[in-house]
Amino acid sequence: MIIDLLYLIAAVCFILALKGLSSPDSASSGNWIGIAGMVFACAAAYLSTDISDAIWTLFAICIGGGIGIYITKSVSMTSLPQMVAAFHSLVGMAAVLVAFSAYYAPNIFKIIDKLENIYKSSLIEMGLGVAIGAITFSGSLIAFAKLHEIYKGNAVPKELNAFLGSSVLCLIFYFVMTESSGAFLLIALFSFILGATLIMPIGGADMPVVVSMLNSYSGWAASGIGFTLHNDLLIITGALVGSSGAILSYIMCKGMNRSLLNVIFPSGQDVSGSKKSNAVRPFKQGSPEDAAFILKNAKSVIVVPGYGMATSQAQHALKEMSDLLKKNGTTVRYAIHPVAGRMPGHMNVLLAEANVPYDDVFELDEINRDFATCDVAYVIGANDVTNPAAKNDPSSSIYGMPIFEVDKAKIVLFLKRSMGTGYAGVDNELFYAQNTMMLLGDAKKTTEAIVKAL
Ligand code: TAP
Repeated sequence: MIIDLLYLIAAVCFILALKGLSSPDSASSGNWIGIAGMVFACAAAYLSTDISDAIWTLFAICIGGGIGIYITKSVSMTSLPQMVAAFHSLVGMAAVLVAFSAYYAPNIFKIIDKLENIYKSSLIEMGLGVAIGAITFSGSLIAFAKLHEIYKGNAVPKELNAFLGSSVLCLIFYFVMTESSGAFLLIALFSFILGATLIMPIGGADMPVVVSMLNSYSGWAASGIGFTLHNDLLIITGALVGSSGAILSYIMCKGMNRSLLNVIFPSGQDVSGSKKSNAVRPFKQGSPEDAAFILKNAKSVIVVPGYGMATSQAQHALKEMSDLLKKNGTTVRYAIHPVAGRMPGHMNVLLAEANVPYDDVFELDEINRDFATCDVAYVIGANDVTNPAAKNDPSSSIYGMPIFEVDKAKIVLFLKRSMGTGYAGVDNELFYAQNTMMLLGDAKKTTEAIVKAL
């Protein structure tokens, strides 16, 4: 009774945690509610173990908790995506191990009938659990290696993935029909290979979508474990993680105007990095002193941060600049695009780290109309999220992606190192516009020079 109650409280905590995490100002409390939920879940797991195993359970909780605390304290903000990928691999492996335990000791899991055969429903759960778990495990390891830049990736023939995928499905069917241990081992082996070959060809910059998708897989794997272990909390939590990961992947793809299928099965064209533009066209270039003069005389400024702000770590200098402008009576607001940077919430995290007030931060729909009435759009390390080709050029790969209408501002200050393109590899007409001033150089150094000039 007490265990069921603890599980129920934990499930409610996880749902409230997700709700809290959906907004920056409630994210911290959402995180604490999630931690409380996990404490209740661990307490329930501990209380439900046999007395002889209780010491091992306590040992596992302490070791796992200790490693978790150490990792979160030592990993830097910019390494969060690979840390998340590494954690997902553990969930995948847990699903594989539980499925194997259930297969080799079905009596302990109480999944056998009077004739000592494993229930068909349990065989389906095991087959799917081991396949999803193994794909999540190896896929997450490859995602980790790519995000950590220790592996660049390889092309994989689509036929190989099709062969592996269909083999896994056939093997699951055969396993459910025959309970064959050979088929069970082959499901695991083929799925481990499939997880790796699916992720290997995907471009480095698409990894955030992949990590979110693997997050979703790990949730479904956990849900599968929940069915095998008859644990309602795991089923609920797994479903929450599975569906939220799937929704997040969808939101990211929508923000990039790409389909999930196009990300998972890339066409072979490299979309993972900044390319140099071949066009030699006249453009206006300014100095930090010019920019300081313009900003000093502006009544309203909208800052559009992007991936370049993250790589140059310019957020603190930016905050310093905003504070100076505000003291001067200028209204300074920040406009965050849903896919600015390289991971969901990338810009929000960096601005929060620099203590930018949440009230100054606006989403695309909230602020887009205000560019028409603002004096300066300060585009710092952003490119694709401002590119008018998304609106005007049906042949462009980013056509249809919602963008900030910075071109409507009186003056656009563009901070980047070169005239090169962004992630999508598409030239930006805005660089050559009448009202644009290019400030070429590292975003942090340029902003620091503007602060000095101010
Ligand atoms: P991008 O279009 O990639 O542009 C970033 C710009 O920053 C580049 O043009 C680069 O130009 C500049 N830059 C790089 N390092 C810099 C530095 N140290 N100082 C100054 N500038 C620097 O970025 P965005 O506008 O944020 O758009 C994000 C893109 O990533 C979108 O295409 C989106 O679809 C994609 N994407 C996003 C996500 C998520 S979830 N956020 C996930 C996957 C893909 P230079 O090289 O000339 O300096």
